[in-house]
Amino acid sequence: MNQSYRPIVWKDHKLFLLDQRQLPHSEIFVEVTNLEGCATAIRDMVVRGAPCIGFTAIYGMALWVKNQSELTEAACRAACDQMIAARPTAVNLSYEVNRCFEIMKEGLASTAGKDAIYQRLVAFGHEQIEKSQEKNTLMAQIGFSELQKKLTGKKWNLMTHCNTGFLACGSLGTALGVISYSHSKGQVAHVYADETRPYMQGTRLTAFELSKENIPYSIVVEGAASYLMSHDKVDAIFVGADRIAANGDTANKIGTSTLAIVAKNYGVPFYVVAPVSSFDVQIPDGKHIEIEMRAMSEITELRGLRLAPDGAQSVNPSFDVTDHRFITGIICEKGFIDPAIAGDLVRVVNS
Ligand code: MRU
Repeated sequence: MNQSYRPIVWKDHKLFLLDQRQLPHSEIFVEVTNLEGCATAIRDMVVRGAPCIGFTAIYGMALWVKNQSELTEAACRAACDQMIAARPTAVNLSYEVNRCFEIMKEGLASTAGKDAIYQRLVAFGHEQIEKSQEKNTLMAQIGFSELQKKLTGKKWNLMTHCNTGFLACGSLGTALGVISYSHSKGQVAHVYADETRPYMQGTRLTAFELSKENIPYSIVVEGAASYLMSHDKVDAIFVGADRIAANGDTANKIGTSTLAIVAKNYGVPFYVVAPVSSFDVQIPDGKHIEIEMRAMSEITELRGLRLAPDGAQSVNPSFDVTDHRFITGIICEKGFIDPAIAGDLVRVVNS
């Protein structure tokens, strides 16, 4: 992906976010100047995707520190909690913000001034985005070699759900990173990108990223999964994650769980690809994951155009939890996890 599509830009002490709501037709950056603006940008999905939400929040905490006249530990904690409340499901948000809190506490304990804490947070944001390139490349290589072992003799037809590329991860991507890397090795025949209702991350964002890389693809409705798999059109499926529990149960964009169940039925390998920052080993299983409920209008309307009859109700869970029994493997930067082996996830995460 061309660097001009970086979704998060920090320049001259200012934070600019590529407004992903406008993609693919307009590439507009919006400036965010404070914590409230940053939390709103996350909630309103100007920026989205679990890793990018976490990176953005780091810069949001830096802006908050910059805007304070004095800092106390209690005020830092309250500001961190305000940021964490922006969206509940992706654990990357609390993971990164809590690390910011540790930086703030260390700074306060060492009597570093406010400016030093601010500079440290900005540097921390840069470091995390830089490291994501390396982590995503490692995951892509692990996913690629897994496919080489599993699928022999022809190019691969792959399927994905939601958007897990550059726009969601700040570099290469997680699930889409595996696809992009496999394409660079000449191994991808075709990609099926779920449109990802109701927010259409697949149609708008994954298709945008696949086009930029000249990867052959088709957008499909989620309901086509069974048709495609029963007609041997899909060799393997790669998805991302917003929160992975200790037993491998995985929260990801709504529709992921249905896809995994259909894949199991047809014997299609189903992989989750996510950095360790998306793991929550404190919770034993997926029942403990809070699922974000979003506005009814995301379903009843399309960009302001009313689709449903006046007064129609909808239910809009933004994520679902895929039972680990339907997942063939979980790939993180530390290695390959077999969810069928109890304790394998915690072993790899702690390695
Ligand atoms: O609601 P979003 O667009 O922020 O959802 C996040 C996602 O893009 C997916 O759930 C994704 O698979 C995990 S983030 C790489």
